[in-house]
Formats: sequence, C-alpha cells, structure tokens
Amino acid sequence: MLAQPPPGMLASHFMTLNGPSPATFAARRQRVLDALDSAVLFIPVTEEAVFANDVHYAFRPDTNTRYLCGIEEPASLMLSRCGSDCDGFSLFVRPRSEQSETWTGKRVGVDGAKNTFGADHSYPGDVALETLRRTLKHARTLHYGFSRDHNLNREVAEMVHQANAERPREGGAPLVLADAAPLLAEWRQIKCEAELALMRKAAEISAQGHNELLARAHPGMNEYEVQAIVEYRFRASGCLGPAYGTIAAGGDRATVLHYTRNEFALRDGELLLVDAGGEYGGYCADITRTFPVGKAYTPAQADLYDLVLAAQHAAIDTVAPGTPFDAPHRAALKVLTQGLISLGILSGDADTCIESEAYKPYYMHRTSHWLGMDVHDVGRYRNDSGGPISLVPGMVLTVEPGLYFRADADVPEHYRGIGIRIEDDVAVSGNGHVVLSSDAIKERREIESLRARAF
Ligand code: GLY
Ligand code: MN
Ligand code: MN
Repeated sequence: MLAQPPPGMLASHFMTLNGPSPATFAARRQRVLDALDSAVLFIPVTEEAVFANDVHYAFRPDTNTRYLCGIEEPASLMLSRCGSDCDGFSLFVRPRSEQSETWTGKRVGVDGAKNTFGADHSYPGDVALETLRRTLKHARTLHYGFSRDHNLNREVAEMVHQANAERPREGGAPLVLADAAPLLAEWRQIKCEAELALMRKAAEISAQGHNELLARAHPGMNEYEVQAIVEYRFRASGCLGPAYGTIAAGGDRATVLHYTRNEFALRDGELLLVDAGGEYGGYCADITRTFPVGKAYTPAQADLYDLVLAAQHAAIDTVAPGTPFDAPHRAALKVLTQGLISLGILSGDADTCIESEAYKPYYMHRTSHWLGMDVHDVGRYRNDSGGPISLVPGMVLTVEPGLYFRADADVPEHYRGIGIRIEDDVAVSGNGHVVLSSDAIKERREIESLRARAF
C-alpha cells in the first residue's frame, strides 16, 4: 500500500503511487517499440503550472507519459527504432540539484532515471529537443505527442520541416509527422485485468465516499464541506486525490453541469448533487449521486429521481460486447423522453420528441464517455464510416443520464430548480458488463431510509 521511503533516501516516490508494476510499463513500451518501423515516438515534457508566486499546482504528468513509464516528475520521453544512437527508451529529466531539492524534495535525476524507470538512455531535460533533432535524421516517421504548449508544438513541426528540407542533400527517407495520440489511445481504450483491478479499487473507494455523505450531509452544511468529506475518503483510502474537480451542488446549482465553486450552504427541501471520483494508481472513478439534503425527496423530486434512475438502469442493461457505443444513450433517451411526456413536460410521442431533440433543454449531454487514466478517457467513439464503434471486453464507460430544470425553465413550477444526475462506471465483460461502482447506493427507498437515520 502506502510505501515508506527508506530513511534518509527519498522524499519522493518518483512513480505513480499504487500504480502498475515496472514490468507492466516495460511491456507497454515494448509494444510501442514493436510497432515503430524506422520511427520515433516523442512525448514532450509537461511543465509544472504556476498557482501563485512561488507556488505550483500539484503536478500531473502527461497521461501517455504516465502510461508508458509512470514518472511523476516533469520529463520528456522518447521511444526510438530507427537505427540512431539512442534507439530504445530515452528519458529526459530534471537534473539533481541540491538547491531545488532543499525546497521541493528529491529528483530522480539523470542517473536515477535508468535504474528507476528502466531507461536505456537518460539525459537532462534541456537537451530533449536537440536529441530529437539528431534522431530525426534517421527516422521516417515521428509520432509526436501534441502538447498543450502550442509554442512547443510549433517548434517540433518546424524541426520536422527543417529535417525534410535537409534531406535532398543529406539523404534519407521522407519524414512524416504523425500524432502519437491515436496509436496509444487504441491500446489505452482496452483495459487489461490489472488495469481493471485499479479501476475497481478507485470506484470502490469513491463509492464509499458517496455513501458516507448519505450519513453526514445536513441542512446548513456547506458545499465545500461536502467536497472535503468525499475527498477525505479518497485520500484516506489510498487515492492521491480526486480524478477531477469535485462537484458538490445544492439546489439549482445542480443544473450547472460542471459546477465546481462549491461555496454555498445546503438547504432543507433541496437536493444535493455530488459528482466525485478518486484517482487510484493513475486510474479514475467518476460517480454521481443526487439525494435530499433533508430526510426525503419531495414528490416532484421523487418523480424525476425515479425517472433518471429508470433511464440509467435501461442504459446499463444495454452494455455488452458487440453493442454499439451509443446504445446506452439511446436507451436512456427513450425512457427519459417517455417520462417527460407522462409528467406533462413534453407533448407528442416519444420517437418524435427524440427525433426533434425536444428533450435537449433538460438533458443536454451524452449518456457516456470512456473512463480510464483520464476521466474523459481516450478512444474512438466512431468507426471510419462514422457509425458508433462496437463495445468490446475491457472497455470502460460511464453511464450518467440526468435531468436539469433551471430555476427559470419552462416547466411546471414544482420541477424548477432541480438537477439530477446518476452516474456509474461500467466495464464491458466477456458476456455483458460489470458495474465497478455498484457499492454506491442509489435506490430511492434505500437512500431515504439512510437519510432518515442520519437525523
Ligand atoms: N465528472 C465529469 C463527468 O461526469 O463527465
Ligand atoms: Mn462522467
Ligand atoms: Mn461525473
């Protein structure tokens, strides 16, 4: 579990806490190397982001760098198979520095990178682009991990252009600049057993955090206290932190899809929507529950809650190998639209309302996204002909229908100001699916009985 550094040795873990084994990282790199034909894969450094004078945000590496070696420091990574002098695995890291380490803890350093991460070659970070430039003279293709640093992207594109400009005189094959993301996304999209175990753990811890809220939330509590309770559970159980900004939204703030200010007090009679998941070993959970701040749902809240829950059950039921990715969304839409008609919010027949997207003012997002090392994980949603891709075992998706009636929505008054989302994490199995977050309580009667006991 939580490793202790050897005394006097380390003030840093260097690798993703509770993450995959070094053998897993080596196997992933080998898979990439095997796929590189006279090519280089280069993922540039993600720098620390400044929070305020002399203070940084918690560092989060580029997820593909995390996938390929698990280094938790700013570093560039190169995998090369083009006959250059740095073929294999190269890491470009921050050099050791007594001055810097006094303030922020030990760095893995250029020499340490080989032992700790199994790099064939290691260099100080500031020679990364120069080393790439030399390597490109031998390569036919550069698979480049496009960065959020657009200046860096431009510099690398210019480097490829320069390398091509020199080729007529210097020889060598034409150089292609390709995006590295799709290559890695294809593998990251299908989770192996070890990855699923980490995702299950992330979901179990997160579910526990949500369940604890059912026992502890009360009128007068502030949204940021709700956030603290759920995030305490994540951290106390081995997560390094939340996988994304926790949403703790009371009343009509729940109709703001990505509300994260979490700064108002909860009021009796309102609902509390909590969208929160921990990150364990580099893998994310993403769970939403919506429950009464008081003891029970009002009749209007119960109508809508039951409808969203029915839509979610119908959507989850569709998840199986061979099912199109959009089947859960279509199933959820059918139930939600039919329900909105029954409640007098929409009129006409369900198919026409779906066709005309009449539901959209109240359900404006899709039902699912991929989940993995990123909360909105990588992977294709559509095949080359534009149709939804088919689910296969090892894929993990969220199923998260909702209904959102803003305070000024054109609906009967008792539905105004209500936002409800119910979100679970679902893995496609060999013959159906497994709900990784099934520990998080969501049946209305069970929630109400726990809420009654909380007072
Ligand atoms: N927590 C963000 C989402 O549900 O997509
Ligand atoms: Mn989600
Ligand atoms: Mn969510």
